[in-house]
Order: sequence, then C-alpha cells, then structure tokens
Amino acid sequence: MPTKIEKDTLSGQDTTGHEWDGLKELNTPLPKWWLWTFYACIAWGVAWVIIYPSIPGWRGTSGWIAREAIVEEVRAATERNAPMMARLREATPAQIAANDEMRAFALAGGRVAFANNCAACHGAGGQGAAGGFPSLADDDWIWGGSLEEIQHTIRHGIRANESDDQRQSQMPRFGADNLLTAAQINDVAEHVLSLTNRATDQAAAGRGAALFAEQCASCHGERGEGNREFGAPRLNDQIWLYGASKPEIVAMIRNPRAGVMPSWQGRLDAATVNMLTVYVQSLGRTN
Ligand code: HEC
Ligand code: HEC
Repeated sequence: MPTKIEKDTLSGQDTTGHEWDGLKELNTPLPKWWLWTFYACIAWGVAWVIIYPSIPGWRGTSGWIAREAIVEEVRAATERNAPMMARLREATPAQIAANDEMRAFALAGGRVAFANNCAACHGAGGQGAAGGFPSLADDDWIWGGSLEEIQHTIRHGIRANESDDQRQSQMPRFGADNLLTAAQINDVAEHVLSLTNRATDQAAAGRGAALFAEQCASCHGERGEGNREFGAPRLNDQIWLYGASKPEIVAMIRNPRAGVMPSWQGRLDAATVNMLTVYVQSLGRTN
C-alpha cells in the first residue's frame, strides 16, 4: 500500500496518500462542532440506557417505567371515579338526566363509550351509515327515543338472539316467498314513492294503495307513518335505512333485509349502559 502523505498545492490540505490514476484524495476532517455533537449524542445515549429501562431485563436507575405509570394512572382514575360510577349504576337514566353533576359525567363517559363500542356502526357522532345503520343524532326513531326505549334497545339488542327481551320483528319476504307478483311489487313500490310525492306511475300507485292497506299497513301504518312496536320505519319521510330509490325499495319488498345490533347488557356494565342511554338521547332531541 503506497501511502505518501503530502500537501496539496492548490488547497493547502494534506492528502490521505491514496492515489488513483494520478488523482489524489484530500484528507478533509469532519468539522469540530459536528464531531463534538456526535460524541455528545453518544454520551446522552449511554446515560439514557443507564437511567431508563432500555435493555430487556434492565429497569434503569430512575425506576420510572411508562407501562407501569399508565397502569397506576388508570387505577387512580378508576378509584377517583368509583363513587360516581356507583351512583350511575344505581340511578335510572331519568334520574341521571335530571341531576347536573351526574348528567355531565354521563355525557363525557357516554361519548367515550360510544366511540369505543358504537361508532364503528353508527358513525363517530352517531350520524349513522349507509346500509341500515340508523342515525341516532336525529329525531327519527325506529324503536323509540324515550330514555326507557333507548335503554331497552341498547341492553337487549336487535335481532341478535342474545337476549330474550331483544327487539324483534321480521318483514315478510313478499317476492322471495311469492306472496306478491313482480307486478304487484312494482305497484306497491309506486305507492310507497307516492307517500313522499315521488310516484312516476299514478295508475300503478293507485293499484298499490289497496295492496299497501292489505299487506303493509299492519306494520307500517295506514299512511306509512311507521310503528315502533314492530320497529317498522316511517315510509312517508325522507329518512331511509336502505335507500330512497325505487330499485332499492323494490329490493326491500322482494327480499327484505333486517338490521342486527348486538345486546350490550352482558358486554358493558350497568353504569356504562346508563351513560350511553343519556348520551345517545342527547344526540337527537327528545321524542
Ligand atoms: C354491529 C353494528 C352495531 C353496533 C356495534 C351498534 N349498533 Fe346500534 N344499531 C345497529 C343497527 C343495524 C340498528 C338498526 C336495527 C334495525 O334496523 O332495527 C341499530 C339501532 C340502534 C338503536 C335504535 C335506533 C332507533 O331508531 O330506534 C339504538 C338506540 C342504538 N342502535 C344504539 C347503539 C349503541 C348505544 C351502541 C353502542 C353500545 C350501538 N348501537 C352499537 C347496529 C349497531
Ligand atoms: C311484519 C311487519 C312488516 C310488514 C307486514 C311490512 N314491513 Fe316493511 N319493514 C318492516 C320492518 C321491521 C322494517 C325495517 C327492517 C330493518 O330495520 O332492518 C321494514 C322496512 C321496510 C322498508 C325500508 C325502509 C327504509 O327506511 O329503508 C320498506 C321500503 C318497506 N319496509 C316496505 C314495505 C312494504 C311495501 C310492505 C308491504 C308490501 C311492507 N314493508 C310490509 C316490517 C314490515
């Protein structure tokens, strides 16, 4: 290895002694400030490893461990909230709603529980989602919007077969089970559209009116006003679970869908169900 360190005449710098085809490499050291920063970082790193738990099995000299700290914080918060949670467990939703202190706590706790358990289906603000997930933030209720009704829905669920007291009903499969012909389904769909003044074939809508009175009114009401006892939605408003268009309405009559919601009484404790009840009702107006 020919190492011939010499001064470069142009820059005045030393060369490293490496030379390729007459090209000599300059020896340009790192700036001092850079080097010192680099050493400081190494020193910082070593100190960090000693003070904090950075190596498996090493707890660090400080004794502070993020995972244990959070466990302790959660324990302290649970302990702090325990008396309030006990009150929320014992009280009825109506009592909670009427008491400023409990109500404020229930709304805050309900918001968190809703984000964790309900938002996936009902949307972050309870605004609902396409495909049968109803908005809880409006004044339109399928099963009822009183505190008792909301609590019953949350506790027992809807068609999930998880509670004997669940919300249960099933619209007949008028097409799939040949209860109505395709022509009759078209007529009754036109009648449903006419409830919101959208019928395009008045003659069909007229024929459909008789069919509706016979086949549908028992659940949806004479004028399509809905019936909460059967969870049969209003058909004479602008709010649709499964779509407002004629093809979507025809599909629903032919082979109805049926929304399912889990029962929460075995999954969430009573205080949380109460908080959710008050929170959900606060999203819409009382009805
Ligand atoms: C897996 C999806 C899903 C989850 C999770 C879910 N829901 Fe529902 N929820 C539904 C569906 C679907 C319906 C409508 C059922 C129907 O068509 O009757 C519904 C209906 C409701 C209703 C009745 C609305 C009305 O108009 O009467 C309430 C109240 C409700 N949900 C509250 C909640 C709360 C509170 C939570 C969280 C603890 C929750 N839901 C979690 C799917 C869900
Ligand atoms: C046994 C009761 C029952 C009968 C009878 C019934 N329905 Fe329904 N219908 C329901 C229920 C319950 C739902 C809501 C299903 C759900 O929430 O998932 C519904 C939903 C609908 C919807 C969808 C509403 C929306 O918001 O998307 C339409 C449209 C509809 N029914 C039309 C009819 C027509 C037309 C007839 C008569 C040919 C009829 N239904 C007969 C119970 C009934």
